[in-house]
Amino acid sequence: MCYKETDAFCKDSRITKTEVCNGINVSREKVPLKPFVKWAGGKGQLLSELRKFYPEGLGETIKKYAEPFVGGGAVLFDLLSSYDFEKVYISDVNAELINTYCVIRDEAENLIELLLKYEKEYIPLDDSLRKSYYYAKRRRFNDLKGNGAGSIGSECAALFIFLNRTCYNGLYRVNRKGLFNVPVGSYKKPTICDPANLLNISYALKNIEIVCGDYKKSFDFIDNTTFVYFDPPYRPLSPTSSFTSYTGDGFDDLAQRNLAEYVSLLTKVGAKVMVSNSDPKNQDPEDNFFEEMYRGFRIKQIKASRSINSNSKGRGKINELLICNF
Ligand SMILES: C[S@@+](CC[C@H](N)C(=O)[O-])C[C@H]1O[C@@H](n2cnc3c(N)ncnc32)[C@H](O)[C@@H]1O
Repeated sequence: MCYKETDAFCKDSRITKTEVCNGINVSREKVPLKPFVKWAGGKGQLLSELRKFYPEGLGETIKKYAEPFVGGGAVLFDLLSSYDFEKVYISDVNAELINTYCVIRDEAENLIELLLKYEKEYIPLDDSLRKSYYYAKRRRFNDLKGNGAGSIGSECAALFIFLNRTCYNGLYRVNRKGLFNVPVGSYKKPTICDPANLLNISYALKNIEIVCGDYKKSFDFIDNTTFVYFDPPYRPLSPTSSFTSYTGDGFDDLAQRNLAEYVSLLTKVGAKVMVSNSDPKNQDPEDNFFEEMYRGFRIKQIKASRSINSNSKGRGKINELLICNF
């Protein structure tokens, strides 16, 4: 199945300059790329602030970019929309998310075909039928996820995007058995498939190293020409405000300390490093957790409005931290 009137997908989404692929403009020029999923802690709303802190020389003296906690990739896509890097590295411990990045890079056409099918089936349904459709897709996703090898491929990626677009608040949460358990959301007309964005992302990801696993696997990639952005799971503002895990694994204070040590190591290597986190001073002005860990680094407070928070009272404007070694 193709979208628009033309009859076949482009065999290769690497189009020579701006061309029309099945009615969709796909460009070799730099175009704005948007994250293909909503993601907890996503930095889309903060980009105008974060850009002020990007290092100088991006795409020139800074030839490489690494984002080891990539999530929805708001900063990745912002940078790829504007700069040419010789090499880019992304990673995450969420295997289904990383599978989706790989499928967008390698099999965008298959993925779009499936997503357009889901969109066509889902959108006309009433609330009750949408609910049944959603839970059937959730079961199928968990079946694929459960048998391991099945999670590799375009069906799992399409289900991952469909569930993200139609579930409650775009959350990704799993139960103890590792099964995705977010209930259906209530969006009137969710965008399930954005073919132009997916094809543009596919082109932009062509030469990128995409790794499933711990952020420390990035060590061999990073050198003194690399800009590294770390956006780890937030340190919870209070014991109850903790967003229940993205993957089933927590990221506690010891994990935050280990990350700070890794950042010091990369500083010695000569990389330009930027780290985001929540600001504990929102709750306790005396809490110097990050100042103590990141001595000698530049620490800035920036305003953020969180969109995913289990406690609705926590939704207002709060500060976040941006920690830089440059
Ligand atoms: C705050 S989110 C990143 C959000 C991202 N900046 C965005 O704009 O969407 C943190 C990500 O780190 C991932 N993660 C958690 N522990 C990790 C680890 N040890 N190594 C790599 N990624 C990890 C989570 O799966 C999650 O996707």
